[in-house]
Amino acid sequence: MKKILLTIACLASMIVARADEGMWLLPMLQQFNEEAMRNIGCRLTAKDIYDINNASLKDAIVQFGGGCTGEVISQNGLVSTNHHCGYSSIQRLSTPEKNYLEDGFFAKSFAEEIPVPGLTVKFMKSMADVTDQLESLEGKAFKEKVAEIEKASNEANPNCQSKVMSFYNNNVWYLIVYKTYKDIRFVGAPPVSMGKFGGETDNWMWPRHTCDFSLFRIYADENNEPAEYSENNKPYTPVKSLKISLKGVKEGDFTFIMGYPGRTQRFQTAAQLKDMIETNSIRIEARTIKQKVMWDEMEKDPVVRLQYADKYAGSANGWKKWQGEELAFKKLGIIERQEAKEAELNKWINKKGSRKEAYGGAIEDIDKFITDRKEVYMNLILLSETIGNLDILAKYIAPKHFRAEDYNEEVDRKINKALFAFYLDKVSPEYKIQPEGWDLTKENVDEYVDSFYGENGAEVVNGLMTALRTVVAEKVGSINDPTFEVASKKYAASLLQWNKGKASYPDANFTMRLTYGTVKPYSPKDGVSYWHWCTANGILEKEDPDDYEFRVPTKIHNLIENKDYGRYADKDGTLHTCFLTNNDITGGNSGSPVLDADGNLIGLAFDGNWESMSSDVMFEPDLQRCINVDIRFVLWMIEKWGEAPNIIKELAFAK
Ligand code: ARG
Repeated sequence: MKKILLTIACLASMIVARADEGMWLLPMLQQFNEEAMRNIGCRLTAKDIYDINNASLKDAIVQFGGGCTGEVISQNGLVSTNHHCGYSSIQRLSTPEKNYLEDGFFAKSFAEEIPVPGLTVKFMKSMADVTDQLESLEGKAFKEKVAEIEKASNEANPNCQSKVMSFYNNNVWYLIVYKTYKDIRFVGAPPVSMGKFGGETDNWMWPRHTCDFSLFRIYADENNEPAEYSENNKPYTPVKSLKISLKGVKEGDFTFIMGYPGRTQRFQTAAQLKDMIETNSIRIEARTIKQKVMWDEMEKDPVVRLQYADKYAGSANGWKKWQGEELAFKKLGIIERQEAKEAELNKWINKKGSRKEAYGGAIEDIDKFITDRKEVYMNLILLSETIGNLDILAKYIAPKHFRAEDYNEEVDRKINKALFAFYLDKVSPEYKIQPEGWDLTKENVDEYVDSFYGENGAEVVNGLMTALRTVVAEKVGSINDPTFEVASKKYAASLLQWNKGKASYPDANFTMRLTYGTVKPYSPKDGVSYWHWCTANGILEKEDPDDYEFRVPTKIHNLIENKDYGRYADKDGTLHTCFLTNNDITGGNSGSPVLDADGNLIGLAFDGNWESMSSDVMFEPDLQRCINVDIRFVLWMIEKWGEAPNIIKELAFAK
């Protein structure tokens, strides 16, 4: 495999990679992308971006809280990310009396910053291809070698965590070294009405007016090293922090984004993709039911609103994404296109005996696995979306994961009754849980749920847990099939060989990537074209005091009406809220810096667009866009709404 990649690398200098598609690996930038980036306007070298021996841009990019991206924007360790990435932290720090989520907050001094227990920020020091040390090993020998590589790396890198990660379905392995900071403090965020303006209605959509940012600060010990929270810790001094550009963007401007995309499915077969859409439908149905109960209760009571805000947002984001995905699959003929691609690939494989030997049958093996596991998988998904993840289970079985502050018994009872009814309706008989003393039916299920909250609650919930474990233990074995792993490795290897000579990138896997492209509008359908930007005028157009998702605080309303934009106004006199680029991102990239040709910060990536919701599977050059909040909207919010000049003063602006 290593050899294949090296060959690709040699040829790549003649073959200029695509300008838009691709979540590129940083160590390959020079070979694969530097020239293509320069061709569309980049003024940086690959080394300015990724250099393991000297400070480079990658040192300013962090993995934020495990599932998002952030960037260091001051020499005092100030980090910006999305509001929806800071959301759970902000929610947890909030109380009905001091509601930072609802009311927003900006610290006016370091002393006012609020520690967030459990929140971490991770820097990547380096990543190195270790495939040649691992490719001939299997099973135990493989595991031991991985442990050995990681141990040696940890010894060579004090205070760091080393991890060997798989790429291209286990064909390539990289050793990645991280340093994790653990004293992270909340610095500020707009009120949720702005940070999440448009709510679930506007989520995954353009045009957009969401001020999706929040600010945190990294604290370190007296040696600038990671430490648990302590009063004595000091703001972290970064190796690199980003400069900010207030120039704004125009169509065609070069942009690139660095960050931690989570998961894509670009090395899967048509059968796998079909299966994904089918299993998602169960998730969508379950969440529709759960969210309806939650939302009704949240609308009734602001305390419940705060308690369930994060649970609701987390559920709704996937719920809407999957619906969009299904629609886009149909509209864009994703399965048909994937099938056509597979037919071509098969032709290529079958042309030569050696290829047939190496890759033949992989697609068929994958498809057989998918068919065989279908029923058990569906039932496990059903379980995990309904009764496998209840708050009441956490309360009694995993108290560490239970937050009493975010729990309301009556709301919980309603959610659980709805989910159990749905579960019973959908479950295949042989997968139905059998809690001791109960034969669950539609008639007695409410009574069963009520018993969670009675005197013997702990006992009943323990019984439920036992019943869940029994089903999983009996049935789950059949979905771990080693032939599947082998086949999917072969499949990815065949794709790489088939495309030999072209620059390639692996599926997203929460490792740092770079995507480059340009500022670009799009046409969502015949006869309609969208601008590549939105302005604050749209906030007033969408404003609706009676709709929680479209409320506008009076102060914001007045600032916009008075066009009080200061130095953050665009040349056109308006305040630009968000803009579009054709960068290739996915979940996990949230909070990633959007950088200009000189590496200056011009925005934060925060969403994808509705017309290309199949983007995790196939990139759509004409339709797929990345939605970014304009950095000038962010700074305007900090300065004019937050009145926090202390924060603005920390920043460095590009001339
Ligand atoms: N769609 C965005 C993403 O997955 C998250 C947006 C969060 N906002 C919301 N209204 N749920 O990155």
